[in-house]
Amino acid sequence: MSNPFDDPMSVQFDFETGALSPCQKKTVRRVSDLSMMFYDSPAVERAILEGDPAVYEILDEEFISSQTDMVLGVTRIFPGKVGNEYHFTKGHFHAQDNQAEMYFCTRGKGYLLLERESGEFQVQPWFPGAITHIPPGWGHRVVNTGRDTLIFVSCFHLSAGHKYEPVVERGFASVVVEQDGQPAILPNPRRA
Ligand code: F6R
Ligand code: ZN
Repeated sequence: MSNPFDDPMSVQFDFETGALSPCQKKTVRRVSDLSMMFYDSPAVERAILEGDPAVYEILDEEFISSQTDMVLGVTRIFPGKVGNEYHFTKGHFHAQDNQAEMYFCTRGKGYLLLERESGEFQVQPWFPGAITHIPPGWGHRVVNTGRDTLIFVSCFHLSAGHKYEPVVERGFASVVVEQDGQPAILPNPRRA
């Protein structure tokens, strides 16, 4: 039987809303799904009691051809903070440590945090038009410091997989918090 993904295929991405059409899968992550990630645990408890708001959502479309397994993902990080820490994606390494990924920011502003398990760390300011190649071995998290939804498109192999454990255990080297009304990049208190 022929595989429809062996033929070229286009999908539509809306730069304004981040909608992807068609879209096979939508995942919403709420504060409760990220409870181990924000450093201010009492603020996490309060946010959950006050309605457990959505922090971000992911729209995925898989292109599983007979020879490869590309995925196009759209992530929309809603503006907001837990305590004074800005909303972010959980962040992860790839389970297959030879797998890279492309990230393309299309709306909003913030930072891309990148860290190797050896501890090497980078913070890239992120804004529409920034396209980042994430090489194998670099964990990645996006932080939304703006008042608008931050939208980005990712492209990766499904078989790359996600490894969240190192981030759940230690977080990233820095946290991005609001200080005097401005974003500030500070050492992660969980690493102290
Ligand atoms: C896939 C990838 C993105 C993220 C998405 C949500 O490798 O990096 O599609 O999965 O931005 O972030 P996490 O997975 O960290 O919750
Ligand atoms: Zn990834």
